[in-house]
Amino acid sequence: MQKTDKESKAYSIVERRGLYYPAFDIYSGVGGFYDYGPIGLRIKRNVENVWRETFIDWLGALEIDTTTIVPEKVLIASGHVATFTDPISKCKKCGTSYRVDKLLEEFYESKKDTNSLIELKKLDKKGMEKKLLEHGITCEKCKGELSQIEDFHLMFKLQIGQEKENIGYLRPETAQGIFVDFKNLYKIYSLKLPTAIAQVGKAYRNEISPRQQLVRVREFTQMETEIFFDPEDAQDAFNSLETEQFLDAKVNFAPHDEKESVFSIRELLLKKYIPNKLFAMCIYAELKMLERLGLSNKEIYVFRQLQKEELPHYSNGNVDLEIKTSYGNLEVSGIAYRTNYDLSQHSKLSGKEITVLNNGKKVTPHVVEASIGLDRLLFSIIDNSVEEGKERGWEWLKLSNDIVPYKYAVFPLQNDEDLEKKANEVLSMLKKNKISAYMAKSGSIGKRYARADEIGVPFAITCDYETLKDNSVTIRNRDNTEQIRKKISELI
Ligand code: GAP
Repeated sequence: MQKTDKESKAYSIVERRGLYYPAFDIYSGVGGFYDYGPIGLRIKRNVENVWRETFIDWLGALEIDTTTIVPEKVLIASGHVATFTDPISKCKKCGTSYRVDKLLEEFYESKKDTNSLIELKKLDKKGMEKKLLEHGITCEKCKGELSQIEDFHLMFKLQIGQEKENIGYLRPETAQGIFVDFKNLYKIYSLKLPTAIAQVGKAYRNEISPRQQLVRVREFTQMETEIFFDPEDAQDAFNSLETEQFLDAKVNFAPHDEKESVFSIRELLLKKYIPNKLFAMCIYAELKMLERLGLSNKEIYVFRQLQKEELPHYSNGNVDLEIKTSYGNLEVSGIAYRTNYDLSQHSKLSGKEITVLNNGKKVTPHVVEASIGLDRLLFSIIDNSVEEGKERGWEWLKLSNDIVPYKYAVFPLQNDEDLEKKANEVLSMLKKNKISAYMAKSGSIGKRYARADEIGVPFAITCDYETLKDNSVTIRNRDNTEQIRKKISELI
């Protein structure tokens, strides 16, 4: 059985502080939809900005923003209309639906049967049906028999305008917007290969069994980067990067035929675990991002090379980034060599040539993609940041400074007009200097420390009667609870 929401380390803080919560709660909720509260949203935005500073600023991708409703033709071209399905089976007694590959995956995981887990990836519908029977797997709720497996389409379908035949879908990935815009952007911005285009935005999938908080939801945010290149010069990294030192960076990596261990990125290339330097750059960019998010310990993450049978329909090689959480290893990102599948398909169905001139010859660029799920990443961060805090008596979040919701909490020691005035001055000064901070006045100081710790605020400033005399404040450190005295002017 899968762990429930409450069994994750993240759950109690998430629930108590409303970092995110089921949407439409007053109507009893609808599975797979979550809203973010103010603290969760601040953390989410900061994570997004770390991604932006890595993929936009370091890698040099151009960021765009494309529509979330996509006409059918685009998704016929991409292959989603024909193939974006999951195998589904219904209980013949109570009607509960199950995603059969996940049902079998959970069964083999509970038995720690890694061979069957690998074999599972190769099974078609008939093969999976046989396994359900062989293992006597029935409905989790009422033990009823499960029906024949059918394909369930994962896209949300809609009508554009008044014409019934004008069909559209909510986009299942942000990437297609980038492929469709590529030729125009290339021309308008006089781009040269290799070139990277990225976007952050919502994606939608009608998941059969959404579960585990933000892990499998029906509406989520992706951060995707597509690097377009000519395969003949794929070994040349971006010219803007003066150094290739990044190839010496070490990563925790699980090749499809070996145990996970630490490799340099250069070794991954030499051993052909990854296809080219652009793919290598994506691995390095994700590693840099993990460092800033406090997740780069090799006990926490692994890059896993997918087997042939696991590859999506468009991919010629994939490496997933998995993060270890209360729910086991979570796939948080996929780096894929999409070849020129998408551009060729869009060219075919639109009737427009999508080629560019590179070194005097026409090419349909190939693509390496780094696709990251923001909500899953956020869940993984929270889940890995919870500290039990037995000695201080409350749970708290050891968040990286790059993503904390506020850098400072500001407290007047007591309910006193002069202290409040001083605390307000400190708060205004911090805000003026673009340092994030909030003020809390009610409750004991201990309670206010606890509330700040819980959401990962690294420093709490207390204004006391000394402050009124000499403009010094107490600063308490979230991680070791130590307190030091500092002048207000030294805070910025
Ligand atoms: N453009 C490639 C693509 O969409 P994907 O592996 O299907 O690839 C990329 O999705 C990432 O999006 C995943 O690694 C995951 O983090 C996130 N994701 C996918 N489906 C999700 C869901 N139902 N709920 C939350 N996140 C999801």
